Amino acid sequence: MNKDIEKILIEEKELQSKVAELGAKITADYKGKDLLIVCVLKGAVVFTSDLIREINLPLDIDFMAISSYGANTKSSGVVRILKDLNMGIEDRHVLIVEDIIDSGLTLAYMVENLRFRRPASVEICTILDKKERRTVELDIKYTGFIVPDEFVVGYGLDYAEKYRNLPYIAVLKEEIYQV
Ligand code: IMP
Ligand code: MG
Repeated sequence: MNKDIEKILIEEKELQSKVAELGAKITADYKGKDLLIVCVLKGAVVFTSDLIREINLPLDIDFMAISSYGANTKSSGVVRILKDLNMGIEDRHVLIVEDIIDSGLTLAYMVENLRFRRPASVEICTILDKKERRTVELDIKYTGFIVPDEFVVGYGLDYAEKYRNLPYIAVLKEEIYQV
C-alpha cells in the first residue's frame, strides 16, 4: 500500500467487477445505436479506458476538459471548457464518463452544453457518486459506487495531481491534506 494512504475504500477487484457490470449494461442498452463515449479529463481517463474494453459494441471516444471557477463562484455552476470535443455529436448517442460527482454542477453544465448540439441522447456514467453533496438535480444513468463525503483518490482521482495511478480508491492520511 502507498505510504500516504490512510485506508482503502474500494479494492481493485471490486472496481474491476463493477466496471464489467456497467459495461454489460451499456452494451445491452446501446445495441444498434451510434455510441460516442465522452471522457471528462483528467480524472475519468482510468475508468474510461477500463470501461470501453467492457463494452462489446462499435463506439467512438472523445475528450473534454472542464474547470470550475474558484470555490466561491463554483456554486454558481459557472465552468469553463478548457478542451472541447473534436467530434460533432449531432444525432449521436452521447455517454459522458466521469470519475466522481460531487455537487453535480460540473456535469449539469456539461449536459446542458452538449444538449445544445442536438445529440440523439446524453446520459451520464460515473464510477463514484458523493450523493449527499449534491446541490443540483442530476439524472445519472449508470453509477458504480456511492461514497461517503470524504476526499478520495486513486483510479484516476487526484489530490494536487497526484495519486491518479493508484489501482484502488482510497482516503489519504490527514497530514497529507494539511501540507
Ligand atoms: P462537482 O462539480 O462538484 O460535481 O465536482 C466534480 C469534480 O470535483 C470531479 O470531476 C472531481 O474532479 C472533483 N472531486 C470531487 N470530489 C473529489 C474527491 O473526493 N477526490 C478527487 N476529486 C474530487
Ligand atoms: Mg479533479
